[in-house]
Amino acid sequence: MPRGFQIRATSITILAHLLFIAITTLLSVWLFHFREGVAFNSSNKIKIFNLHPLLMVIGFILVGGEAIISYKSFPGKRSSAKVVHLLLHLIALASGVLGIIAVFKFKIEAGLPHMFTLHSWLGMSAICAFGLQYILAFFAYFFPGAEMSTRATLLPWHRFIGLVIFLLAVGTAETGLVEYFKFLELFRNQEALIVNFTGLLLFLFAAFVSLTVILPRNF
Ligand code: HEM
Repeated sequence: MPRGFQIRATSITILAHLLFIAITTLLSVWLFHFREGVAFNSSNKIKIFNLHPLLMVIGFILVGGEAIISYKSFPGKRSSAKVVHLLLHLIALASGVLGIIAVFKFKIEAGLPHMFTLHSWLGMSAICAFGLQYILAFFAYFFPGAEMSTRATLLPWHRFIGLVIFLLAVGTAETGLVEYFKFLELFRNQEALIVNFTGLLLFLFAAFVSLTVILPRNF
């Protein structure tokens, strides 16, 4: 008889929260200390661009990851966890859309062409799939809500597709980090280490989020 993982999903969610803090710290040090900071309107166009990684990583990926693990990390009732799940995903979606608007605004103002890299294709697919999944799940599980049997049939697909979109977003962010690294011509310095560690920790975050999805709440 296979014995499963023998760990509680809740303990893994704690590691995910710690990674949330570590990644947010690294990214903030990078963008605000080593780089010029962020702005939505500025004559320094790079400040507009910098909003993109900030919103995509912290808002779209980290808050989106917290939304995914909320059923395992939130101590209250399942119905309250559902509201937390819905609200955190809404914050993730709004940040993702704003982050994409920021990079489009930057490119328009800098006179650069759009959507020619693999990163931009993966990113656009991730945000569109996320939006679609959100709308479908809202109607099926929140308002007006589908029949119980339909919800039950949809659930494994909702969980699987949600995880795939999340992993697509993490993969996109990794390619974005590499692109910006190359653009800045970083080499072996402190800033390069910060960017690379951000990417490594993001990968670990994705691994822990995925593990909480496949683990039962308690074993
Ligand atoms: C889930 C996260 C992300 C998504 C969905 C995403 C999406 C996108 C999209 C759609 C574009 C194209 C904009 C246009 O063509 O006008 C873009 C551009 C760009 N992004 Fe991201 N991005 C993400 C994370 C990141 C991160 C973490 C970085 C790191 C700094 C980054 C760096 C860039 C760069 C350098 C460009 C301009 C070059 C290009 O078009 O590929 N992105 N992103």
